[in-house]
Amino acid sequence: MIVRFCLNGGPVEVDARTGASFLDVIRGLGLTGVKAGCRIGVCGVCSVLVDGLPVSSCLFLAPCADGCDVWTAEGIAQAHPEVTDAFVRCEAMQCGICTPGQVVAATAAITELGPGADEDELREYLIGNLCRCTGYNTIIAAAREAAAREAAAREAAAREAATQEAGDVH
Ligand code: FES
Ligand code: FES
Repeated sequence: MIVRFCLNGGPVEVDARTGASFLDVIRGLGLTGVKAGCRIGVCGVCSVLVDGLPVSSCLFLAPCADGCDVWTAEGIAQAHPEVTDAFVRCEAMQCGICTPGQVVAATAAITELGPGADEDELREYLIGNLCRCTGYNTIIAAAREAAAREAAAREAAAREAATQEAGDVH
């Protein structure tokens, strides 16, 4: 069946079997940052954002993506470089296999919990993304740094809006 969705900000149309996993469809489109691990919804390496929520693409049937807004780590790196930059700065990767899924989950965490999320909240949110290299401390440090940058960006935007508003009034 024909499945149409928005992928990393652009329209996509694929002819997918009814039972095709979204993981295979996305990788087939060349987005190999979405990794294939356990394929049973346990490890999180296949994570993508579907309508803003993190989803294990190995368990998500491709036809269910019809009409959805989908983001992978590749698109997030372009649209929200602060998250991937934080992973690089914090050296939050060893082999890197889990990294794209961690970036997806960290992005979702900051959106869902808000940039004020503390370490415990971020650890709990990221619990479904396993790292075989056990680099969890640096991954959490990266998520915290990205959240702090997002908080600073929102503050600056709010200040600018307030200044603009004051200027409009006078
Ligand atoms: S490959 Fe999807 S959760 Fe492991
Ligand atoms: S960096 Fe190797 S699995 Fe996480």
